Amino acid sequence: MRIAVGADHAGWPLKEGLVRFLMDRGWDVEDFGTFNDESVDYPDYAEKVGRAVSAGHADRGLLLCGTGLGMCISANKVAGVRAVTANDLMSARLSREHNDANVLTMGARTTAAAMAEEILAVWLDTEFVGGRHQRRVEKIQNLESPQF
Ligand code: RB5
Repeated sequence: MRIAVGADHAGWPLKEGLVRFLMDRGWDVEDFGTFNDESVDYPDYAEKVGRAVSAGHADRGLLLCGTGLGMCISANKVAGVRAVTANDLMSARLSREHNDANVLTMGARTTAAAMAEEILAVWLDTEFVGGRHQRRVEKIQNLESPQF
């Protein structure tokens, strides 16, 4: 399984630890940067990761910024992306079970590294349950069609 990862300068320290965490768990990681604390714009990284997931080059995406929020807003502009910000374990689990979220965003200024690892592990290990939730996810996908 392949995961695309990206961060801005605020999320970069958290990203470094989570990339090691993912590799230790056997994930094939594609790290789109950033690679230092020089100020950058989070939508640029959300776009790279979002497009990798949308195109099927990655099975999942992980985006880190200060809060996770800007990354989430940006990634959700890419067709096919269902990005969520999770700050707790239940949100992480339900975003997979109910929403089939394919991109997780978190904030280095809001979530401690140990908690971020727990959230990420739950999010990676939880499967979409389908059923009535499949219909709802399809309705989300329909929102990407042009509206007349
Ligand atoms: C950068 O200062 C900060 O705005 C960014 O990392 C993120 O928190 C935006 O949502």
